[in-house]
Amino acid sequence: MGNVTPIGAPRPRVLEFFAGIGLAKMGLEQAGFSVAWANDYEEDKKAMYVAEHGDNHPFALGDVANVTVDQLPRDAALAWASSPCTDLSLAGNRAGFAGAQSGTFWQFIRLMDDLKDDRPEVVVLENVVGLATSHGGDDLTAAIRAFNKLGYSVDVLALDARRWLPQSRPRLFLVGAQNPPEDCPDPNSELRPDWLQSFFGDPTLDTHRAALPAPPIPKTDGLDEVVEPMKPGDARWWDAERTKKFVSSLSKVQAERIAELKRGDSATYRTAYRRTRNGVAVWEVRADAVSGCLRTARGGSSKQAVVKLGGPGKKLQVRWMTPKEYAALMGAPDYDLSGARTNQALFGFGDAVAVPAVKWLGENYLLPLLRGELGVRTSTVEDALGEAVSNG
Ligand SMILES: C[S@@+](CC[C@H](N)C(=O)[O-])C[C@H]1O[C@@H](n2cnc3c(N)ncnc32)[C@H](O)[C@@H]1O
Repeated sequence: MGNVTPIGAPRPRVLEFFAGIGLAKMGLEQAGFSVAWANDYEEDKKAMYVAEHGDNHPFALGDVANVTVDQLPRDAALAWASSPCTDLSLAGNRAGFAGAQSGTFWQFIRLMDDLKDDRPEVVVLENVVGLATSHGGDDLTAAIRAFNKLGYSVDVLALDARRWLPQSRPRLFLVGAQNPPEDCPDPNSELRPDWLQSFFGDPTLDTHRAALPAPPIPKTDGLDEVVEPMKPGDARWWDAERTKKFVSSLSKVQAERIAELKRGDSATYRTAYRRTRNGVAVWEVRADAVSGCLRTARGGSSKQAVVKLGGPGKKLQVRWMTPKEYAALMGAPDYDLSGARTNQALFGFGDAVAVPAVKWLGENYLLPLLRGELGVRTSTVEDALGEAVSNG
């Protein structure tokens, strides 16, 4: 455990944009924050959010484009935006804040702009790592520049959920700070890999790199611990014909790998996902005991299967991954799923952010930043960018 908020200390308040089923809220509240307001436009997600978290703060259900500044609490220290991953084309709106702003990210920026003096001291944008390479880096540059124009210096970190959970889920986190720490060019190369360095080297951007503790080493196993126990006769295991088809679609290497695991005295688990190889849908089993990145269940092809191998009878059994397993793989094993339909839950978790990644960022970066514990850079955004900012 990193910094623990002392009992009685005020919890900094958060505006939670693109709140989904509230896993950012879960991680932030575990770290010591308190969400004061949330927005998402999907009714199914709001239903899960309220079932899990209660309704002790406003949840504005509707398009972020229709949110106005007067709806927002004015005392938030942090604004968190897990904007849709499909919304990568941030650069498309570089025409600026006066132009037509259709992308959801730009709606978030519009509201931060409208908050003026009540703008939170810290903002976070969470997105897929593809944001760093989308349009040759122009989209990430546009996002950093948009935060710079609002007075935030920006740090960019890549964090994979696999550091805490048996799921490969790399994500990018932009941390915008009104009072950034001094830039430490050399810390935490694992958090800011080579492919991010060009953004820190761009003299037209105001960026900083906070010195942070090293996150845990990525996991290569642990799936067995999150698999929902299921009797061999459970109806959710696929029947013999379907299982045979599954096995026959595997490549030779894959088939050999699972044959070896099947001979094991104790049962072990792997995840499998469908791919198209030479125009044919085939299954691939992961070599390691972690799951691939959970995705939304749109279209079905993104759903993962769980393969049980070995143990008594030395069998191979296959079934779809369950909502409870999705929840555990996202770091929310006790999430209230009692009212959620299967697809609603898979969709909600597939879209969400991994709880321990948010908690780690909250405890090790966001709270210490707000408390001034990371130190404060002496130069301002204007100093850093000179004319670029003052001339707009
Ligand atoms: C990447 S997910 C974020 C999930 C969230 N962090 C969680 O832990 O569940 C993006 C969310 O943005 C929402 N969204 C997409 N477009 C929106 C819009 N125009 N207005 C409001 N919410 C929107 C989606 O419903 C989805 O829940």
